[in-house]
Amino acid sequence: MRELSYRHSRGVTKIIIGRGLGLRVDGKAVYLVDANSGVELEGALRLPGGEEVKSLEVLTKVYEFLLSRGADRHTYLVAVGGGALLDLATFAAGTYMRGMRLALVPTTLLAMIDAAIGGKGAVDWGRVKNLVGVFYQPDLILADLKFVEGLPDRVYRSAFAEAVKYGVTLDGDFFQWLRQNAEGLARRDESLLEEAVYKCARIKASVVEEDEFELKGVRQVLNFGHTVGHAIERVLGLLHGEAVAVGMAVEGEAAVEAGLLGGAQLDELLALLKAFGLPTRVCLDPASLEEAKRLVERDKKRKGDVVLMPVPTGIGKWRLEEMRLEFVKRALDKLRCSA
Ligand SMILES: NC(=O)c1ccc[n+]([C@@H]2O[C@H](COP(=O)([O-])OP(=O)(O)OC[C@H]3O[C@@H](n4cnc5c(N)ncnc54)[C@H](O)[C@@H]3O)[C@@H](O)[C@H]2O)c1
Ligand SMILES: [Zn+2]
Repeated sequence: MRELSYRHSRGVTKIIIGRGLGLRVDGKAVYLVDANSGVELEGALRLPGGEEVKSLEVLTKVYEFLLSRGADRHTYLVAVGGGALLDLATFAAGTYMRGMRLALVPTTLLAMIDAAIGGKGAVDWGRVKNLVGVFYQPDLILADLKFVEGLPDRVYRSAFAEAVKYGVTLDGDFFQWLRQNAEGLARRDESLLEEAVYKCARIKASVVEEDEFELKGVRQVLNFGHTVGHAIERVLGLLHGEAVAVGMAVEGEAAVEAGLLGGAQLDELLALLKAFGLPTRVCLDPASLEEAKRLVERDKKRKGDVVLMPVPTGIGKWRLEEMRLEFVKRALDKLRCSA
């Protein structure tokens, strides 16, 4: 078992990583459960997992559930599920009675290494991902590796997009570690997995601790691959991690063209994504391409006709660049299906 914690405006979040962990909360608790997680809990609100759950309609159901259970500000909302369900739960907990207690039990690898950590909660609106949301930190995160066993292969592998993102932008040693251990990780070797979850959690927690509200030009690094990624995730219905993998490839290529990243380093990035069985390329028909461009225009990171984008400038190095919207659209054009 490994433990770490990070500080923020609400206090401290404790992260526990291990296998067969028990959850003990101090006081009354109500439960939200992802129907695909394999967890059965009497009295819990069971929700289908996946992106569909991040809607105002489902959020309303959660508020009704909380009210019907007599939840107040001191009640724990315990959310057990994938990243989508945790994003919804974080939004609900941060807004119900202006904030109740929150414990997160991520049941996908991606949620353990990324989504559960850092306090971003949101729902989608129309086609725009995460349009309405909050920053609201959980009290506790319990990453139980037993959940990894039942994950479908695609869902499992998709998590490594976020792990590669941490390595390529922030930690060259971790990038090399992933390279050396890609095969064992793909086999779900448990001790490697525990190490990977711990290393990722530590990287993400330290970024959040430094810039909780994404105001200091630090937390933005976590958006690498996400400007393009979010657009194609919606348009093609890919898993979040898969879309981010393609997003990193496209944004990485744009960085090479802008003279910010070396071609050999881009090749290293692409090779590592492929080693985890992740896509680096998709093909968009004309209508999808137009929609992807419209979604990029609505991105939260846009400022007039530029998009504020984190760009790797080497393996383990990055900087924030103002990329012209036109430049990003031209990068997307390369994904047009050939006739
Ligand atoms: N808040 C953040 O900082 C942050 C960071 C990264 C990603 N995200 C969000 O997280 C979401 C992606 O998370 P995800 O990759 O976990 O996908 P997901 O939540 O959509 O889960 C993928 C699928 O796995 C199922 N599932 C969950 N646990 C399972 C288990 N133990 N066994 C079998 N199936 C299981 C889910 O029901 C779903 O069908 C996206 O909405 C993304 O925007 C948020
Ligand atoms: Zn992501």
